[in-house]
Amino acid sequence: MISPPRIAASILAADFARLGEEVLRVEPYVDLLHIDVMDGHFVPNITFGVPVIKSIREVSELTFDCHLMMTNPDTYLEQLREAGADIVSVHIEVFPEPSRVAEQARAEGMGFGLALNPATPLEAVEPYLELCDLLVVMSVEPGFGGQEFIEATFDKVQRARKLVDSHGLPTDIEIDGGIGPGNVARARAAGVDVFVAGNAVFRAPDPVAAVLAMRAEIDR
Ligand code: DX5
Ligand code: ZN
Repeated sequence: MISPPRIAASILAADFARLGEEVLRVEPYVDLLHIDVMDGHFVPNITFGVPVIKSIREVSELTFDCHLMMTNPDTYLEQLREAGADIVSVHIEVFPEPSRVAEQARAEGMGFGLALNPATPLEAVEPYLELCDLLVVMSVEPGFGGQEFIEATFDKVQRARKLVDSHGLPTDIEIDGGIGPGNVARARAAGVDVFVAGNAVFRAPDPVAAVLAMRAEIDR
């Protein structure tokens, strides 16, 4: 069943020189903080890792939704939990059989998510949905913020929603990439629970107004 909509602000689009300030500004208005860890291997970009997460944890009490675009996230689960991660999502393209890494994340006391790239069929994650608190449906190629939303994602989300609901699972469906006030209503109608937004929040003239505009559109 679809749950109340939640917004996850993606710090990838924040000003890293003022990261704490940027997070605190939106903290009262968002539900989660989306943290994109990129390793330069799984994706052609490098962002930040454990020390940065630890620093933000010192200023923020938000739920940290860590999206691990890495080939070896399993090596870092304990460090990520110690740094303050609440939920970790790994890619199905990295772990075609994710039972063990899911177990490891749970043993650390974290929530577990599976992310899938635009080109990866839903069938790849279907057998593992019951392991997941979160299914991260990528609506852009992973690696960079500020890309254009891929329209075919609506259909994928709709099918994911049916799949999750038909199995009676509590798994939340998260959409990640190119999300903003202009497409959240359609994403919600397709069955999204969690809306990740980077540029639409942190690059807006007023990030708080941008979050409120997204919420108004979702509730429309
Ligand atoms: C892309 C990341 C996204 C990114 C979204 O690899 O996974 O979380 O931050 O950024 P926007 O909302 O700017 O497309
Ligand atoms: Zn992400």
